[in-house]
Amino acid sequence: MAIPVIDFSKLEGKDRAKTLAQIATCCEEWGFFQLINHGISEELLENVKNVASECYKTEREPGFKNSNVVKLVNELVEKKSDERVDNVDWEDVFLLSDDNHNDWPSNTPGFKETMKEYRVELKKLAIKVMEVMDENLGLPKGYINKAFNGGEHQDEAFFGTKVSHYPPCPHPDKVNGLRAHTDAGGVILLYQDDEVNGLQILKDGVWIDVQPLKNAIVINTGDQIEILSNGKYKSVWHRVLAMPDGNRRSIASFYNPSYKATIEPAALEKEEKQVEDFEAKYPKILFGDYMSVYAEQKFLPKEPRFQAAVKAIC
Ligand code: OGA
Ligand code: NI
Repeated sequence: MAIPVIDFSKLEGKDRAKTLAQIATCCEEWGFFQLINHGISEELLENVKNVASECYKTEREPGFKNSNVVKLVNELVEKKSDERVDNVDWEDVFLLSDDNHNDWPSNTPGFKETMKEYRVELKKLAIKVMEVMDENLGLPKGYINKAFNGGEHQDEAFFGTKVSHYPPCPHPDKVNGLRAHTDAGGVILLYQDDEVNGLQILKDGVWIDVQPLKNAIVINTGDQIEILSNGKYKSVWHRVLAMPDGNRRSIASFYNPSYKATIEPAALEKEEKQVEDFEAKYPKILFGDYMSVYAEQKFLPKEPRFQAAVKAIC
């Protein structure tokens, strides 16, 4: 079984209705899909790949080799223990956002410029993807984005880019690349390695690979889209396996609500008469509160998080 692949360029033109329907099915039944012909140039993607790999080699690898996770795995192996390391991930990661420009890696030529350009393009794509979701959910165009920007209060949505590498792991049975979780926020756009796999999603109780596909952007939806769609678009469990060969590059960009945005099932805000038949399956939460809960519970079942996030705004 493979993750569905959508030709995003078909949204323009005679195949629009069919493509919208395909994306609706992806959102409802998969929670993950891959976009091709998404409008981000191959040249830019190639540059992103190169600067990220170069950055890892020159600025990150020495730190990873001395990291806690490497020590913990080695200790278990030396002790011939049959335990696993289950509280940290075999991952090198840092975050890029508009707020932390000064902390972006600065010793890799072209890194800042390329990633800046990439983030501008990817943010536009995130907005287009959300507009498709608006349309498929029967919401006015721009609804999701407006909610993420704090509705009338206008608190800016958050757009972050996680640059990750999952280096080859000599003991992949001892540790995860990234432990299983659902994503907390809105829409996630992932540019993953062309060759090294490892990312899997849980579909109908079975872990399946998100197959590497050159120049594709993998889309998935987080817990806030689940709330907003009143459970129609469920956030899906995923994980990264540690792999014995290859250094897997993975660049995940998150389009999330502002911490000050309140998120609630969308039909609650629709016409009076529709509200009468509408049963909200999720509470209204403040995204900042949700994130406080998530910070503690990321790798635990998601259902209790929704209620746990409510208390602060009651
Ligand atoms: C994440 C995530 C997958 C990957 O950062 O939430 O699921 O391939 N990343 O890095
Ligand atoms: Ni994730």
